[in-house]
Amino acid sequence: MRILSGVQSSGRLHLGNYFGAIRQFVSLQNEGDAFYFIANLHALTTVTDPAAMREFTLDAALTYLAFGLDPERAVLFRQSDVPEHSELFWVLGSLVPLAHLERAHSYKDKLARGIRPDFGLLAYPILMAADILLYAADVVPVGKDQKQHLELTRDWAIKFNQAYVSGYDPADPNGVKGGVPGVLHIPEARIQEDTATVLGTDGQKMSKSYKNTIDLFAPDNVIKKTIMGIKTDSTPVEQGKPTEDSGLHALLRVLAPASEFERIDASWRAGGQGYGTYKQRLLELFHATFDEARSKRAELEQDLGEVERILTLGASKAREVAARQMDRVKRATGLGPA
Ligand code: ADP
Ligand code: TRP
Repeated sequence: MRILSGVQSSGRLHLGNYFGAIRQFVSLQNEGDAFYFIANLHALTTVTDPAAMREFTLDAALTYLAFGLDPERAVLFRQSDVPEHSELFWVLGSLVPLAHLERAHSYKDKLARGIRPDFGLLAYPILMAADILLYAADVVPVGKDQKQHLELTRDWAIKFNQAYVSGYDPADPNGVKGGVPGVLHIPEARIQEDTATVLGTDGQKMSKSYKNTIDLFAPDNVIKKTIMGIKTDSTPVEQGKPTEDSGLHALLRVLAPASEFERIDASWRAGGQGYGTYKQRLLELFHATFDEARSKRAELEQDLGEVERILTLGASKAREVAARQMDRVKRATGLGPA
């Protein structure tokens, strides 16, 4: 089984990224042939400061490694180190209907928030599809918000195969029922449902664009300030507290072991404890969950040369696979020999 996923290097990574993405990546490295990359080309749509770009790219690499990504098992690389991503992006984009891109949720959400769209934002799902199809991924672990991008990827891969592979049958998209396999392999999304959307400090989806994140590797004092600053209402201590739209309640659910969360939830609904007590417990749970990775990361920061070696070696392994796939695409489209 080939597994592939990426994280954008567009900011420091937070709890939502961990539960929605990174945790699954790391555990999946034991189940197959895994490729994980830092999507710095995607990040160009939002990060325009070169120093920030470098910092966030390194941050993403350190995060993967701190959480136990093992470079002996999984290939870790920077997207921009493998030029085939940009190459397949164009080939694929040449057959993508503009209407698909205009319908994409991520694009529409950004328009709704008043962001003036540029071509990169519109074309973003095509680059993501190229990332996936270059490695013939079977499984792509992502957060729920990326589900539509996976559906688009599948549609476009089928469209490409129909256009360029004679005898291709979209009803047997990977040719497993005796049909002709396509040049592009159709992937599946793997979505972690139980922590599908982690809420932020304001009760909305945690996202760096909403500035409501709890960053995984912020210094202790910043973590404390962020957790103590989680938005709560003015329900008095003795009263039962509302759970709806409560970032604090949702975060306790994510971080506490199930049996403890049952007790927390019961006392929350019954009343008798103030929000401060729950915040204090959340802070302890944060440290209990992340301190091991936090110290691992501090260690890795002492040897950035080693991190660079891991990324360089990862890029050369990734390129081998990507170049072979690009060669097939070129042959199929007539860009290369038959
Ligand atoms: P952000 O929303 O902060 O910009 P990204 O879009 O870069 O985060 O997401 C990186 C990965 O983390 C994706 O797979 C995404 O689905 C997952 N993710 C991001 N925020 C959350 C969240 N609040 N809950 C669950 N998963 C999330
Ligand atoms: N768009 C993804 C996100 O924001 C990141 C990403 C880019 C990705 N290319 C990918 C994820 C390919 C999985 C596969 O989270």
